[in-house]
Amino acid sequence: METHAKLIPPSEEFKKQAHLGRGQYLALYEQSLKDPERFWSEQAQHLTWMKNWNRVQETQFHKPIKINWFEGGVLNACYNCVDRHLNSRAAKVALYWEPDHPQEPSRAITYQELYEEVQIFASILKSKGVNKGDRVIIYMPMIPETAFAMLACARIGAVHSVVFAGFSPEAIHDRISDCGASFVITCDGGMRGGKLLPLKQNVDEALEKPHSVKSVLVVRYAKNPVIMHSHRDSWYHQEVRDFKENWLHAEVAPEPMLSSDPLFILYTSGSTNKPKGVLHSTGGYMVYASTTFHYVFDYKEKDVFWCTADVGWVTGHSYSIYGPLSHGASIVLFEGVPHYPSQGRFWEIIDKYQVSVFYTAPTALRALMKAGDQHVKESSRRSLRLLGSVGEPINPEVWMWYYNVVGDGRCPIVDTWWQTETGGVLMVSLPGAVDMKPGSTGLPFFGVRPHMLTPEGVEIRGPGEGILALENSWPGQMTTIFGNHDRFEETYFSTFTGLYFTGDGCRRDEDGYYWITGRVDDVINVSGHRIGTAELESAFVLHKNVAEAAVVGVAHDIKGQCVHAYITLKDGVVATEELRKDLAQWIRHEIGAFAAPEKVLWAPRLPKTRSGKIMRRILRKISEGALESLGDTSTLADPNVVEELIQSHSSTLPSANEKAPGFPKAA
Ligand code: WT7
Repeated sequence: METHAKLIPPSEEFKKQAHLGRGQYLALYEQSLKDPERFWSEQAQHLTWMKNWNRVQETQFHKPIKINWFEGGVLNACYNCVDRHLNSRAAKVALYWEPDHPQEPSRAITYQELYEEVQIFASILKSKGVNKGDRVIIYMPMIPETAFAMLACARIGAVHSVVFAGFSPEAIHDRISDCGASFVITCDGGMRGGKLLPLKQNVDEALEKPHSVKSVLVVRYAKNPVIMHSHRDSWYHQEVRDFKENWLHAEVAPEPMLSSDPLFILYTSGSTNKPKGVLHSTGGYMVYASTTFHYVFDYKEKDVFWCTADVGWVTGHSYSIYGPLSHGASIVLFEGVPHYPSQGRFWEIIDKYQVSVFYTAPTALRALMKAGDQHVKESSRRSLRLLGSVGEPINPEVWMWYYNVVGDGRCPIVDTWWQTETGGVLMVSLPGAVDMKPGSTGLPFFGVRPHMLTPEGVEIRGPGEGILALENSWPGQMTTIFGNHDRFEETYFSTFTGLYFTGDGCRRDEDGYYWITGRVDDVINVSGHRIGTAELESAFVLHKNVAEAAVVGVAHDIKGQCVHAYITLKDGVVATEELRKDLAQWIRHEIGAFAAPEKVLWAPRLPKTRSGKIMRRILRKISEGALESLGDTSTLADPNVVEELIQSHSSTLPSANEKAPGFPKAA
């Protein structure tokens, strides 16, 4: 622990060229707290507005909760990401696209080309009857058309909801129903690590149940045979051809959007069984994505920026699309995975496009570190100047490997803490300005006022450990849960009065640095993806053989956490290996492959309190093999259950050292 808490200063070379020095960070931070209206109105001026706002901030963390930034302002997100760069950056590459397999042709799309593609896409959407405010589901692989689709929606004021291509037909259907989508954009298939994703087929299956969808637009890409339903489906390439032949449609002007008009919905898991439709507004979100991109990644015009996250997650929204493109940056979009076709894939791509800023997830780094340094060392990586990490705590060992082996000790690392709900980074050691601590997510970003509390809501001052909450709003804050403002208030503002509840535990050290210790609610973070235990459990009990299920997150050396499911079968059902596999398959179908359990454990009975609440804490300890620290079991309705579970699993349980290497655990 001691050794990990050391401060690592950025190199003099990096400092010299950085946007901010330490003094400037401190001064700006102070200003941002003292006069947030001034600070954020200055930042907002980096965007192009059609009409100025009346008030910078209209927010309230007391009921009725209100999040409204730049009230009265009018702008268009697509205009800010595309049109406004045509004067000075028309020939600059907006998007380098790298396919799953390196032997397939790559693409480079300039801002001029991006403009034309988005125009056509927007025009097709309009001709298909998509209007301002309509919800559009985007279920796509990581190809340029996905970016065109998002920007085209933004252009016409339609609200996109990107569904990660790893989600199942069931999950697509849930999302379509929840947001009442009228339109779906998908693809005949996508490639990931050499495997075909049957996207159109999944959409077809999702639409077998009652739904609100009027049309499905299908991009042809994988040349995978699909069934087209003539009344509902159309091919994108045919629409493009018609468009070009007839030139019927006039240019689609960017729709003037109020700052508070929604830009997108992104579903994320919480502590109930139903994913939440996190809604982001146009003005506040854009200002925050753009401002954080500038400072957090020390962005310079000549950078080539690569964020490896899929656009199906918020990281892809804010730091592959809206943040970088609002600056006219060149980004890399990669369809594939880190280890295919070789363990050196990431580093080859960095050399190929001369990537200067690289942003990825600890889970990928852990896997690549395990694969061995030789794969990294085969590449040059001289173009790199800054590295980033996001999605879960990064183990100090992995941090040091990233720093020394990937970055050759030259590049600062920004460990960025944020959430789907926050729209952009809230905590980071700003590069060049703030010394780094491996494993710590650093200090608050401008305007962010963190608080640390006990579960009872008592404020902890100075160093200590507690629950992380935030005192005031920031422009990237989600504005509501789509269609359910009550749930928004309940989820984020009812735990601590007047504060935004993050759901994360944290530690604050003597230097004021924050260390995220993981979720304190019933959310598991598997490879940086959020999965609610309640969501998994309710999926399990839909299976015909399952009576009851309890799910816990257990430390895993690559994924960070993995899912262990304790299953009580219905009377008369025999526990077989086959059923175990069937249950894992069931979760793939109900939610998606990334949520599949690592282990399915048979539980004749589950440990419950007298009031019937499942004590997952005990199950977690059993799974981790930490039997000596089971804690107080006296509140259990039947303490014998624990002994039973231990007995029945002694053969299948992992040894205690199957944990993530050396991450400082919560005390
Ligand atoms: C949760 C949010 C932020 C975009 C990707 C995930 C965890 C995120 C870090 C970090 C430690 C982190 C938190 C947070 N998390 N970044 N740098 N260090 N933990 O978005 O799916 O909304 O998940 O991810 O637990 O609450 P998300």
